Amino acid sequence: MANYQWKHAEELQQTAQSMVAHHKGILAADESNNTATKRLQEVGIESSEESRRKYRQLLFTAPDIENYISGVILYDETIRQSDDNGKPFPELLKSRGIIPGIKVDTGAKPLAGSPDEKVTEGLDGLRERLAEYYNMGARFSKWRAVITVGEGMPTQQCMEANAHALARYSALCQENGLVPIVEPEVLINGSHDIDTCEEITEENLRTVFNELYRHNVMLEGTVLKTSMVISGLDAKNRAGIEEVADRSVQTLERVVPPALGGVVFLSGGQGDVEATQHLDVMNKKYKNRVPWRLTFSYARALQNPALGTWGSDMANTEEAQKAFAFRAKLNSLASEGEYSEDMESKAA
Ligand code: 13P
Repeated sequence: MANYQWKHAEELQQTAQSMVAHHKGILAADESNNTATKRLQEVGIESSEESRRKYRQLLFTAPDIENYISGVILYDETIRQSDDNGKPFPELLKSRGIIPGIKVDTGAKPLAGSPDEKVTEGLDGLRERLAEYYNMGARFSKWRAVITVGEGMPTQQCMEANAHALARYSALCQENGLVPIVEPEVLINGSHDIDTCEEITEENLRTVFNELYRHNVMLEGTVLKTSMVISGLDAKNRAGIEEVADRSVQTLERVVPPALGGVVFLSGGQGDVEATQHLDVMNKKYKNRVPWRLTFSYARALQNPALGTWGSDMANTEEAQKAFAFRAKLNSLASEGEYSEDMESKAA
């Protein structure tokens, strides 16, 4: 907007640029307690405030990750926790040159009027919560909307309600000096083909960017976290790596303004290696053509091997840390198009 004055324009732009710095991406470690419990239980670990703290500590103290990870998205419980020496996690991350971020939505709830779809909540009291998180050291935040693909879905109503909330969240973040990560995820669940995913992703992104514009959100101080354009998990003939890379980038090119601070991808249920391959091919083919960095902000695709290792032997934090740093390194290379599959067999 021509006459709108952004209060923290310079700081926001700098934070956004640091989040997508070369060779770096973002670790999503913002699983809610429910999700964290599910993930820990899957590998046989009992979930408690203490086991969640130990697990996050393992990730945040892994050797060398500051070379691959620009920022970490935390959950409300985690941002208030400390390492074994009593150093608060946000401080620990900052001392390693890693920017602390915070998930601020309060979850996706059934959308009244279309209960098979979801709308993400969390706007009430958000201004005050953001001010508190900023004081605790957070410099960016995340809000995730989910778009379900199915018979008659998504509805316009669902896309609009979620885009509206994302825009209001983003404007509030920027007012308080935090870069919003805008995450309108098109879910991979279902038997839909890649054409359907492409069509829905494009329309959904258009809806989101229209709302960001209406709410005076500064794109230079905003990071988009998107799902890839990909076949549904149960689709008959799933598209290959090249096709996913091509369609993902081409869809972004049609919709996303060049002014945007950067683009990061979620892994969304893809395999660990597959998520790295997709990112790598996008950058090999398009990094010199697109106006934004294309990098990662994975949770599962970064954490799965580490979590599995820790689950089989909780005493062996070193091996688990190595497994995490290894995936972070390979994704760092992929974010520059410098990865190759034979690296998978080499030790960290
Ligand atoms: P996944 O990479 O596991 O999809 O998680 C990313 C994320 O932060 C979802 O909000």
